[in-house]
Amino acid sequence: MTLDAYKAQYENYLACAEKGLARAADCYLPEQSEVCRAARYSLLSGGKRIRAILVLAVCDMLGGDMSAAEEFAAAVEMLHCYSLIHDDLPCMDDDDYRRGRPSCHKAFGESTATLAGDVLLTEAFETILGADAAPQIRVNAAKALAEGSGSRGMILGQELDIAWEEKSPTREILDEIHHYKTGALINAAVQMGAAAAQCKQEQCNILKQYAFDLGLVFQIVDDVLDVTATSEALGKPVGSDAENGKVTFATLYGTDGAMKLAQQINEENCKRMERQFGESAAFLVMLAQQLLNRKN
Ligand code: IPE
Ligand code: IPE
Ligand code: MG
Ligand code: MG
Ligand code: MG
Repeated sequence: MTLDAYKAQYENYLACAEKGLARAADCYLPEQSEVCRAARYSLLSGGKRIRAILVLAVCDMLGGDMSAAEEFAAAVEMLHCYSLIHDDLPCMDDDDYRRGRPSCHKAFGESTATLAGDVLLTEAFETILGADAAPQIRVNAAKALAEGSGSRGMILGQELDIAWEEKSPTREILDEIHHYKTGALINAAVQMGAAAAQCKQEQCNILKQYAFDLGLVFQIVDDVLDVTATSEALGKPVGSDAENGKVTFATLYGTDGAMKLAQQINEENCKRMERQFGESAAFLVMLAQQLLNRKN
Protein backbone atom coordinates (compact mmCIF):
# COMPACT_ATOMS: atom_id res chain seq x y z
CA MET A 1 0.00 0.00 0.00
CA THR A 2 1.41 3.41 -0.94
CA LEU A 3 1.45 6.24 1.57
CA ASP A 4 -1.11 8.12 -0.55
CA ALA A 5 -3.46 5.13 -0.58
CA TYR A 6 -3.04 4.79 3.17
CA LYS A 7 -3.81 8.48 3.72
CA ALA A 8 -6.91 8.35 1.53
CA GLN A 9 -8.18 5.30 3.41
CA TYR A 10 -7.41 6.96 6.72
CA GLU A 11 -9.44 10.04 5.72
CA ASN A 12 -12.33 7.76 4.71
CA TYR A 13 -12.35 6.04 8.07
CA LEU A 14 -11.99 9.35 9.90
CA ALA A 15 -15.01 10.83 8.08
CA CYS A 16 -16.96 7.69 8.91
CA ALA A 17 -15.97 7.95 12.59
CA GLU A 18 -16.97 11.63 12.79
CA LYS A 19 -20.31 10.81 11.17
CA GLY A 20 -20.97 8.08 13.73
CA LEU A 21 -20.02 10.40 16.57
CA ALA A 22 -22.23 13.25 15.35
CA ARG A 23 -25.16 10.83 15.10
CA ALA A 24 -24.55 9.36 18.55
CA ALA A 25 -24.29 12.86 20.04
CA ASP A 26 -27.59 13.84 18.38
CA CYS A 27 -29.33 10.73 19.70
CA TYR A 28 -27.95 10.53 23.20
CA LEU A 29 -26.46 13.88 24.26
CA PRO A 30 -29.29 16.47 24.14
CA GLU A 31 -28.05 20.06 24.20
CA GLN A 32 -30.57 21.21 26.80
CA SER A 33 -28.46 19.46 29.43
CA GLU A 34 -25.32 21.21 30.73
CA VAL A 35 -23.73 17.80 31.40
CA CYS A 36 -24.40 16.74 27.80
CA ARG A 37 -23.07 20.07 26.51
CA ALA A 38 -19.88 19.37 28.47
CA ALA A 39 -19.75 15.84 27.03
CA ARG A 40 -20.21 17.22 23.51
CA TYR A 41 -17.52 19.85 24.13
CA SER A 42 -14.99 17.11 24.87
CA LEU A 43 -16.25 14.52 22.41
CA LEU A 44 -16.65 16.64 19.29
CA SER A 45 -13.44 18.64 19.60
CA GLY A 46 -10.96 16.59 17.67
CA GLY A 47 -8.71 13.87 18.92
CA LYS A 48 -6.93 11.46 16.63
CA ARG A 49 -9.81 8.96 16.73
CA ILE A 50 -7.41 6.06 16.44
CA ARG A 51 -9.68 3.71 18.38
CA ALA A 52 -12.54 4.43 15.98
CA ILE A 53 -10.22 3.94 13.03
CA LEU A 54 -9.14 0.59 14.46
CA VAL A 55 -12.75 -0.60 14.73
CA LEU A 56 -13.40 0.39 11.11
CA ALA A 57 -10.12 -0.90 9.68
CA VAL A 58 -10.37 -4.30 11.39
CA CYS A 59 -13.98 -4.73 10.29
CA ASP A 60 -13.06 -3.70 6.75
CA MET A 61 -10.09 -6.07 6.62
CA LEU A 62 -12.37 -8.95 7.66
CA GLY A 63 -15.13 -7.97 5.21
CA GLY A 64 -17.66 -7.12 7.94
CA ASP A 65 -20.68 -4.88 8.30
CA MET A 66 -19.35 -1.31 8.12
CA SER A 67 -22.56 0.35 9.28
CA ALA A 68 -22.44 -1.56 12.59
CA ALA A 69 -18.73 -0.79 12.82
CA GLU A 70 -19.50 2.92 12.48
CA GLU A 71 -21.70 2.77 15.60
CA PHE A 72 -19.12 0.72 17.49
CA ALA A 73 -16.43 3.21 16.46
CA ALA A 74 -18.49 6.04 17.96
CA ALA A 75 -19.02 4.02 21.13
CA VAL A 76 -15.34 3.33 21.77
CA GLU A 77 -14.48 7.01 21.22
CA MET A 78 -17.20 8.01 23.70
CA LEU A 79 -15.73 5.66 26.26
CA HIS A 80 -12.20 6.87 25.55
CA CYS A 81 -13.32 10.49 25.85
CA TYR A 82 -14.85 9.76 29.27
CA SER A 83 -11.53 8.25 30.36
CA LEU A 84 -9.72 11.43 29.29
CA ILE A 85 -12.16 13.75 31.09
CA HIS A 86 -11.72 11.80 34.32
CA ASP A 87 -7.95 11.39 33.76
CA ASP A 88 -7.58 15.20 33.65
CA LEU A 89 -9.50 15.88 36.87
CA PRO A 90 -7.57 17.46 39.76
CA CYS A 91 -7.87 14.22 41.75
CA MET A 92 -6.24 12.30 38.88
CA ASP A 93 -3.54 13.85 36.61
CA ASP A 94 -4.75 17.41 37.21
CA ASP A 95 -4.28 18.63 33.64
CA ASP A 96 -5.92 21.85 32.49
CA TYR A 97 -5.60 21.45 28.76
CA ARG A 98 -6.83 18.76 26.37
CA ARG A 99 -7.17 18.59 22.60
CA GLY A 100 -5.97 22.16 22.30
CA ARG A 101 -8.44 23.74 24.69
CA PRO A 102 -9.32 23.89 28.38
CA SER A 103 -10.03 20.46 29.88
CA CYS A 104 -13.66 19.64 30.52
CA HIS A 105 -13.46 20.52 34.24
CA LYS A 106 -11.76 23.85 33.44
CA ALA A 107 -14.54 24.79 31.04
CA PHE A 108 -17.52 23.39 32.98
CA GLY A 109 -16.41 22.79 36.58
CA GLU A 110 -15.53 19.52 38.27
CA SER A 111 -18.97 18.18 39.08
CA THR A 112 -20.30 18.75 35.55
CA ALA A 113 -17.12 17.25 34.06
CA THR A 114 -17.39 14.17 36.27
CA LEU A 115 -20.98 13.67 35.14
CA ALA A 116 -20.02 14.36 31.52
CA GLY A 117 -17.58 11.44 31.80
CA ASP A 118 -20.28 9.30 33.37
CA VAL A 119 -22.79 10.10 30.65
CA LEU A 120 -20.29 9.27 27.89
CA LEU A 121 -19.54 5.94 29.54
CA THR A 122 -23.23 5.11 29.79
CA GLU A 123 -24.21 6.31 26.33
CA ALA A 124 -21.34 4.39 24.75
CA PHE A 125 -23.21 1.22 25.63
CA GLU A 126 -26.54 2.58 24.46
CA THR A 127 -24.86 3.44 21.16
CA ILE A 128 -23.75 -0.18 20.75
CA LEU A 129 -27.18 -1.51 21.69
CA GLY A 130 -28.84 0.89 19.24
CA ALA A 131 -26.72 -0.28 16.30
CA ASP A 132 -28.45 -1.87 13.34
CA ALA A 133 -26.87 -5.30 13.74
CA ALA A 134 -27.86 -8.80 14.84
CA PRO A 135 -28.28 -9.13 18.64
CA GLN A 136 -25.29 -11.47 18.98
CA ILE A 137 -23.02 -8.96 17.22
CA ARG A 138 -24.14 -6.19 19.58
CA VAL A 139 -23.66 -8.45 22.62
CA ASN A 140 -20.14 -9.34 21.48
CA ALA A 141 -19.25 -5.69 20.91
CA ALA A 142 -20.66 -4.59 24.28
CA LYS A 143 -18.80 -7.40 26.01
CA ALA A 144 -15.53 -6.43 24.33
CA LEU A 145 -15.96 -2.80 25.38
CA ALA A 146 -16.93 -3.69 28.96
CA GLU A 147 -13.99 -6.07 29.36
CA GLY A 148 -11.54 -3.59 27.91
CA SER A 149 -12.68 -0.64 29.98
CA GLY A 150 -13.65 -2.06 33.36
CA SER A 151 -12.17 -3.92 36.30
CA ARG A 152 -9.92 -6.09 34.09
CA GLY A 153 -9.14 -3.29 31.66
CA MET A 154 -8.64 0.45 31.54
CA ILE A 155 -9.93 1.15 35.06
CA LEU A 156 -7.51 -1.39 36.51
CA GLY A 157 -4.74 0.31 34.55
CA GLN A 158 -5.67 3.73 35.91
CA GLU A 159 -5.80 2.27 39.41
CA LEU A 160 -2.28 0.84 39.03
CA ASP A 161 -1.03 4.04 37.39
CA ILE A 162 -2.08 6.06 40.44
CA ALA A 163 -0.94 3.45 42.95
CA TRP A 164 2.58 3.59 41.46
CA GLU A 165 2.88 7.40 41.57
CA GLU A 166 5.92 8.54 43.56
CA LYS A 167 7.21 4.94 43.56
CA SER A 168 9.70 2.99 41.46
CA PRO A 169 7.91 0.56 39.17
CA THR A 170 10.07 -1.96 37.31
CA ARG A 171 9.88 -2.56 33.56
CA GLU A 172 7.52 -5.50 34.23
CA ILE A 173 5.19 -3.33 36.27
CA LEU A 174 5.18 -0.57 33.63
CA ASP A 175 4.35 -3.19 31.00
CA GLU A 176 1.42 -4.24 33.16
CA ILE A 177 0.18 -0.69 33.76
CA HIS A 178 0.35 0.13 30.03
CA HIS A 179 -1.27 -3.20 29.12
CA TYR A 180 -4.34 -2.31 31.14
CA LYS A 181 -4.60 1.47 30.98
CA THR A 182 -4.02 1.76 27.22
CA GLY A 183 -3.76 -1.67 25.60
CA ALA A 184 -7.05 -2.98 26.93
CA LEU A 185 -9.20 -0.25 25.33
CA ILE A 186 -7.26 -0.46 22.08
CA ASN A 187 -7.91 -4.19 22.11
CA ALA A 188 -11.59 -3.49 22.78
CA ALA A 189 -11.67 -1.35 19.63
CA VAL A 190 -10.03 -4.11 17.60
CA GLN A 191 -12.37 -6.76 19.01
CA MET A 192 -15.42 -4.59 18.29
CA GLY A 193 -14.31 -4.40 14.66
CA ALA A 194 -13.90 -8.18 14.74
CA ALA A 195 -17.37 -8.53 16.30
CA ALA A 196 -18.93 -6.50 13.46
CA ALA A 197 -17.30 -8.97 11.08
CA GLN A 198 -18.30 -12.04 13.12
CA CYS A 199 -14.68 -13.01 13.26
CA LYS A 200 -13.60 -16.50 14.39
CA GLN A 201 -11.94 -16.90 17.81
CA GLU A 202 -8.59 -17.89 16.32
CA GLN A 203 -8.33 -14.66 14.34
CA CYS A 204 -9.57 -12.67 17.35
CA ASN A 205 -6.60 -14.04 19.30
CA ILE A 206 -4.11 -12.96 16.64
CA LEU A 207 -5.71 -9.52 16.54
CA LYS A 208 -5.45 -9.32 20.31
CA GLN A 209 -1.66 -9.63 20.11
CA TYR A 210 -1.59 -6.87 17.51
CA ALA A 211 -3.77 -4.66 19.71
CA PHE A 212 -1.77 -5.04 22.91
CA ASP A 213 1.57 -4.48 21.17
CA LEU A 214 0.12 -1.45 19.40
CA GLY A 215 -1.19 -0.19 22.75
CA LEU A 216 2.18 -0.62 24.43
CA VAL A 217 3.97 1.24 21.65
CA PHE A 218 1.27 3.92 21.70
CA GLN A 219 1.71 4.54 25.43
CA ILE A 220 5.53 4.47 25.25
CA VAL A 221 5.33 7.17 22.56
CA ASP A 222 2.82 9.10 24.70
CA ASP A 223 5.31 8.95 27.60
CA VAL A 224 8.16 10.14 25.36
CA LEU A 225 6.10 12.99 23.88
CA ASP A 226 5.27 14.11 27.43
CA VAL A 227 9.02 14.87 27.68
CA THR A 228 10.03 15.87 24.14
CA ALA A 229 7.01 17.60 22.54
CA THR A 230 5.50 21.05 23.00
CA SER A 231 2.06 21.51 24.49
CA GLU A 232 1.04 23.34 21.28
CA ALA A 233 1.86 20.27 19.21
CA LEU A 234 0.25 17.86 21.67
CA GLY A 235 -2.81 19.91 22.58
CA LYS A 236 -2.24 18.83 26.20
CA PRO A 237 0.32 19.82 28.82
CA VAL A 238 3.84 18.41 28.62
CA GLY A 239 5.78 17.41 31.72
CA SER A 240 2.59 16.13 33.35
CA ASP A 241 4.11 12.72 34.18
CA ALA A 242 7.16 14.16 35.96
CA GLU A 243 4.97 16.62 37.82
CA ASN A 244 2.84 13.74 39.09
CA GLY A 245 5.86 11.65 40.10
CA LYS A 246 5.20 9.00 37.45
CA VAL A 247 8.02 6.75 36.34
CA THR A 248 7.52 6.01 32.64
CA PHE A 249 9.44 4.26 29.85
CA ALA A 250 11.08 7.64 29.20
CA THR A 251 12.37 7.75 32.78
CA LEU A 252 13.55 4.12 32.75
CA TYR A 253 15.30 4.11 29.37
CA GLY A 254 15.67 7.76 28.39
CA THR A 255 13.65 9.13 25.47
CA ASP A 256 15.95 7.61 22.80
CA GLY A 257 16.09 4.25 24.56
CA ALA A 258 12.32 4.20 24.96
CA MET A 259 11.81 4.99 21.26
CA LYS A 260 14.23 2.21 20.26
CA LEU A 261 12.27 -0.23 22.34
CA ALA A 262 9.00 0.99 20.83
CA GLN A 263 10.51 0.51 17.36
CA GLN A 264 11.51 -3.07 18.13
CA ILE A 265 8.10 -4.00 19.52
CA ASN A 266 6.43 -2.36 16.54
CA GLU A 267 8.61 -4.13 13.99
CA GLU A 268 7.85 -7.54 15.47
CA ASN A 269 4.18 -6.68 15.62
CA CYS A 270 4.02 -5.58 11.99
CA LYS A 271 5.90 -8.67 10.80
CA ARG A 272 3.52 -10.93 12.70
CA MET A 273 0.48 -9.18 11.19
CA GLU A 274 1.91 -9.52 7.69
CA ARG A 275 2.57 -13.21 8.27
CA GLN A 276 -0.93 -13.82 9.57
CA PHE A 277 -3.06 -11.66 7.29
CA GLY A 278 -0.82 -10.92 4.29
CA GLU A 279 -1.61 -7.97 2.05
CA SER A 280 -5.01 -7.43 3.69
CA ALA A 281 -3.23 -6.20 6.83
CA ALA A 282 -1.46 -3.41 4.91
CA PHE A 283 -3.53 -0.60 6.41
CA LEU A 284 -3.18 -1.85 10.00
CA VAL A 285 0.57 -2.25 9.50
CA MET A 286 0.93 1.29 8.15
CA LEU A 287 -1.24 2.64 10.94
CA ALA A 288 1.10 1.05 13.49
CA GLN A 289 4.09 2.67 11.77
CA GLN A 290 2.43 6.08 11.65
CA LEU A 291 1.50 5.89 15.33
CA LEU A 292 5.09 5.06 16.21
CA ASN A 293 6.30 8.17 14.38
CA ARG A 294 3.49 10.46 15.47
CA LYS A 295 4.17 13.94 16.79
CA ASN A 296 0.92 14.37 18.74
C1 IPE B 1 -4.49 9.72 25.10
O1 IPE B 1 -5.03 9.07 24.02
C2 IPE B 1 -4.49 8.79 26.27
C3 IPE B 1 -3.60 7.64 26.10
C4 IPE B 1 -4.01 6.44 26.26
C5 IPE B 1 -2.19 7.85 25.79
P1 IPE B 1 -4.94 9.66 22.54
O2 IPE B 1 -3.53 10.11 22.27
O3 IPE B 1 -5.53 8.68 21.61
O4 IPE B 1 -5.87 10.96 22.67
P2 IPE B 1 -6.77 11.67 21.56
O5 IPE B 1 -8.03 10.89 21.49
O6 IPE B 1 -6.02 11.70 20.27
O7 IPE B 1 -7.02 13.05 22.12
C1 IPE C 1 -4.04 7.92 30.08
O1 IPE C 1 -2.67 7.91 30.21
C2 IPE C 1 -4.67 6.65 29.98
C3 IPE C 1 -6.13 6.74 30.14
C4 IPE C 1 -6.77 5.68 30.43
C5 IPE C 1 -6.88 7.98 29.95
P1 IPE C 1 -2.09 9.37 30.35
O2 IPE C 1 -2.53 9.99 31.62
O3 IPE C 1 -0.64 9.32 30.06
O4 IPE C 1 -2.83 10.11 29.12
P2 IPE C 1 -2.63 11.65 28.77
O5 IPE C 1 -1.14 11.84 28.54
O6 IPE C 1 -3.17 12.43 29.92
O7 IPE C 1 -3.40 11.81 27.49
MG1 MG D 1 -3.16 9.39 33.50
MG1 MG E 1 -3.12 12.07 31.88
MG1 MG F 1 0.45 10.73 28.96
